[in-house]
Amino acid sequence: MNLQGVWCIARPSTSDQALTDNINYACGIVNCSLIQPGGSCFYPTSLMNHASVVMNLYYQKAGRHYWNCDFKNSGLTVVTDPSYGDCKYQYAL
Ligand SMILES: *[C@@H]1O[C@H](CO)[C@@H](O)[C@H](O)[C@H]1NC(C)=O
Repeated sequence: MNLQGVWCIARPSTSDQALTDNINYACGIVNCSLIQPGGSCFYPTSLMNHASVVMNLYYQKAGRHYWNCDFKNSGLTVVTDPSYGDCKYQYAL
């Protein structure tokens, strides 16, 4: 199975509570400076954006297994790079 070019994002319509939980969980494991003020993914300051960025960081760091993007069924793997502007979604840490 070719796992190249897979990223993890938050599933659309995920509740704010679940997004917050995911951010808190991921940021206990990965460096979340990207979504903090001054970070390149700080804007837009939505939970959906911030959760997606750090869920992907976690997914990449954990080894890109499909279960690393589960997040209680609130994660979604995508094959299109979600990067935008200066916010680069990391791949293969
Ligand atoms: C997180 O990353 C930022 C930017 O690269 C760096 O300045 C900071 O020292 C890092 N923090 C930790 C805890 O590694």
